Amino acid sequence: MAYYIGIDLGTSGTKTVLFDREGNALASATIEYPLYQPQNGYAEQDPDDWWNAAAGTIRMVLEKSGVSNEEVKGIGISGQMHGLVMLDKDGKVIRRSIIWCDQRTAKECEEMTEKIGAKRLIEITANPALTGFTASKILWVRNNEPENYAKCVKILLPKDYVRYKLTGEFATEVSDASGMQLLDVPHRCWSDEVLEKLDIDKNLLGKVYESPDITGTVTAEAAALTGLKEGTIVVGGAGDNAAAAVGTGVVEDGRAFTTIGTSGVVFAHSSTVSIDPKGRVHTFCCAVPGQWHIMGVTQGAGLSLKWFRDNFCESEKETAAQMGVDPYYLMDKEAEESPIGSNRLLYLPYLMGERTPHLDPDCRGVFFGLSAIHQKRDMLRAVLEGVAYSLNDCKNIIGGMGVPVSDMMACGGGTSKIWRQMLADLYGCEVKTAANREGPALGVAILAMVGAGEYASVPEACRAIIRTDKVQAPIPENSAKYAPFYKLYTELYPALKESYKKLAALD
Ligand code: XUL
Repeated sequence: MAYYIGIDLGTSGTKTVLFDREGNALASATIEYPLYQPQNGYAEQDPDDWWNAAAGTIRMVLEKSGVSNEEVKGIGISGQMHGLVMLDKDGKVIRRSIIWCDQRTAKECEEMTEKIGAKRLIEITANPALTGFTASKILWVRNNEPENYAKCVKILLPKDYVRYKLTGEFATEVSDASGMQLLDVPHRCWSDEVLEKLDIDKNLLGKVYESPDITGTVTAEAAALTGLKEGTIVVGGAGDNAAAAVGTGVVEDGRAFTTIGTSGVVFAHSSTVSIDPKGRVHTFCCAVPGQWHIMGVTQGAGLSLKWFRDNFCESEKETAAQMGVDPYYLMDKEAEESPIGSNRLLYLPYLMGERTPHLDPDCRGVFFGLSAIHQKRDMLRAVLEGVAYSLNDCKNIIGGMGVPVSDMMACGGGTSKIWRQMLADLYGCEVKTAANREGPALGVAILAMVGAGEYASVPEACRAIIRTDKVQAPIPENSAKYAPFYKLYTELYPALKESYKKLAALD
């Protein structure tokens, strides 16, 4: 038999799943790791935590499934995008990775816009200079930690560090590389112009592949650590969202998905390059060779609910532990007791600044309209609604660009029933889940199947493997009730924009 492994290197942990060629999951394992926030707006992780989690979970799925390593025909890696991993001449990590939600690089973004020009930067990289993306993080290290920059001989993205540890190769693939802001996104190669203008040596970067391409094979050393067979192929894989697209069958025009993980994303496939001139949504190469996707991002989606859980839901956590259920289940139940509009309470989910549609690293979360009548359930519902409003912003911009969305899937651990119903009511279209919930891990396992020759193309593999499951239809009276709240939500950021700048300037 032939089996495939998908590794998904997330922000809260790494999940590895072993699949058969029909996409059935035989075993799954997750290892969590910390997120370091040394200052307000900073976010870092240790790349060796990622590698230890990847190696540990590979060992666990091999053991749990009882599958022999001979039968594993390919591995795909997916992961959080944009993070900066810097290696020295011995291949050792120089400093903790500055990850996607870190917001420290506003000055470096100005530097990039000045050196390349705002319009030209969007033409080449399909995005304005963004604090979350890798290029500004590289400049930040050069500007603030010159000793670390001087030691750096290789720059990798998070999942590509795991690839390096597995195969010894310095490589990436187009979907994740699109988020570095050093790639020529329409032409799918490193941009000499951007690299020259930013004075970044191209040799620092890995070789760029298409997502299903074979990028290397497991080394003897990695085989000993993971239990894999030396020589097993590792394909390009994909950034987490491009991988989730494959794992939910969003690989053809008209298809889209919404995911709620730590961040939230609305993602639409596009066979042509379509760029928002205002840069409010990202255009990236997707995992289908020669095609693209448009993507809007809510920075603090699942993060908002996790923050609320960790700070205000001790009793839910205790009860959940006694009942043997997830605290989020009880939190959803509480939120269901509050009406649409949360008794006139709105939440802005900007805990880590915001990307779509504001592109503002300085904005922060708000509860608007708090009154003495409010209870925890209203605050909980307001958090869920605020995130759904922000995702609706993303969908509206994509629609406004003329990218058709006729089919919306939902994936990611956060897309609970109550959240999916909110999205269906706000989007005004059905929201479906995939029968297989492994999203990104399945997506990259499918890329490994294509790389190994099991299927001829990514769409062909998806047609054979992906099945839809639950469908949430919009409820028209709910949509009508949400409309005035969503309208007010869209008015709050412009009203607070200047105050956010003042807040950021305070000590
Ligand atoms: C995408 C993005 C996030 C991260 C973390 O641009 O920043 O989705 O990949 O999951």
